[in-house]
Amino acid sequence: MLRFMTAAQAAEFINNGDVVGMGGFTPAGAPKDVPTAIAHRAEAFHARGEEFKIGIYTGASTGDSCDGMLARAHAIQFRAPYQSNKDLRTELNAQDAHYFDMHLSQLAQELRYGFLPKPKFAIIEACEVTEDGEIVPTAGVGIMPTICRLADHIIVELNEAMPATMRGLHDLYEPLDPPMRREIPVYHVSDRIGTDCIKVNPEKIIAIVRTNRPNEVGKFTPLDETTEKIGANVAQFLEDEIHAGRIPKEFLPIQSGVGNIANAVLGALGENPHIPPFTMYTEVIQDSVVGLMKEGRVTFASGCSLTVGADKLQDIIDHIDFFRSRLVLRPQEISNNPEVARRLGLITINTALEADIYGNINSTHVCGTKMMNGIGGSGDFTRNAYISIFTTPSVAKGGAISSIVPMVSHLDHSEHSVKILITEQGIADLRGKSPIQRAHCIIDNCVSPEYKELLRDYLAHCKTAHTPHNLALATAMHREFIASGDMRNTKWENYL
Ligand code: COA
Repeated sequence: MLRFMTAAQAAEFINNGDVVGMGGFTPAGAPKDVPTAIAHRAEAFHARGEEFKIGIYTGASTGDSCDGMLARAHAIQFRAPYQSNKDLRTELNAQDAHYFDMHLSQLAQELRYGFLPKPKFAIIEACEVTEDGEIVPTAGVGIMPTICRLADHIIVELNEAMPATMRGLHDLYEPLDPPMRREIPVYHVSDRIGTDCIKVNPEKIIAIVRTNRPNEVGKFTPLDETTEKIGANVAQFLEDEIHAGRIPKEFLPIQSGVGNIANAVLGALGENPHIPPFTMYTEVIQDSVVGLMKEGRVTFASGCSLTVGADKLQDIIDHIDFFRSRLVLRPQEISNNPEVARRLGLITINTALEADIYGNINSTHVCGTKMMNGIGGSGDFTRNAYISIFTTPSVAKGGAISSIVPMVSHLDHSEHSVKILITEQGIADLRGKSPIQRAHCIIDNCVSPEYKELLRDYLAHCKTAHTPHNLALATAMHREFIASGDMRNTKWENYL
């Protein structure tokens, strides 16, 4: 029997110290009304002087009605594996919530392995739920199959804004654990290996909450000269690789990261007439892909979520037959799977916050300490790519920050995994280069003219070695930014 109730009633099942797994991936398919009701419940507890904090796993980020509401209610004890909410960021940088920043492909298996506390509840959004326990996800999958299986109880938000015709968009599959694990049989981006719904014991579904809510996907900032140039440089690089015969002429699947720059890069690839129509094996399907699919530039997209604006999602829903044959949404364990990434030969394009002159990448920490979002799937893909590309504007904050520094202030992707660095200034091909060759290549091609001499001068202050560094000066540009607000003021002699 389906047990319908209000979000407030469903939230009463959740108590201080409980561990909850949320469905969806990014704001796409994330639950909305029940997390908001839990936040209100936490506030009521706190007003009475009682403790109320819960542990939360998600696929990736969520919408403001989940992460934002729960962070503002100080209701989060721990959180994994990724977030991008302003208030949650403040909360975890203040150590009010503990955050484990994880490779997204690994969360589901680490829950199964028992490395992390087991979720007692799964709170998920669905477009359909049946008496016999079939649950059809909406625009994002994330860790849903695993949390639905592991959790003792499931709370479903049945979102009427997401029609049941979305059934068939998903391919839901959970691998066995070692030593029983077999290969994941995805040999082409469009291969389907699982089911179109999650099947659970219906007794576990303790509440169904009817909602009617669009996804809370933020808007992209419009393209500017810098993002357009980065996009054009990526397209140029790939065009040259095809001509050189280093990428097969039928091309390879693209993985593209999150954010404004990733969205712009994809637009540029779509527009380049020398790049053939392509497929995507990626994590997040962003706005630009939808138009490219309609134009036939993207022939198939496999992802974990449709993280697109409300108008774009409506477009997909209105033309569901067209998109169902060209699109598949998978659990993040499969969309980001290292084995599959390497087999398919992905061209991976992710965004760095900061790179160093040797090709190490910081994707997560501002000035080495403050968490921005998290590593997301960038490590899953970069390490296993056919060619791994990182993009970044050469400067941030109007030029006060050089995105390229002597030594990254936090390391997410090492020089061993990063093959190509691209800024609006140009392209650094790091393949087959020693550290000092990479340093010159990056400074010559990618660094802003305002910072080229400063970085060359850094090298002049280093003793000859395999990877030259002057440890007194390696973080001087960051320290100068903290002290004066502008890396351009850096004078090496002040830091010796
Ligand atoms: N130091 C300090 N701040 C910096 C910086 C640096 N080196 N480089 C950029 N920033 C700031 C920008 O000024 C901007 O700040 P604002 O919001 O106050 O304006 C902010 O960081 C975001 O920069 P933006 O250029 O808008 O980047 P984006 O939207 O393309 O996102 C990342 C870039 C790195 C934050 C984002 O791609 C990310 O979270 N990556 C990690 C996860 C990932 O790669 N997932 C993909 C796997 S599929």
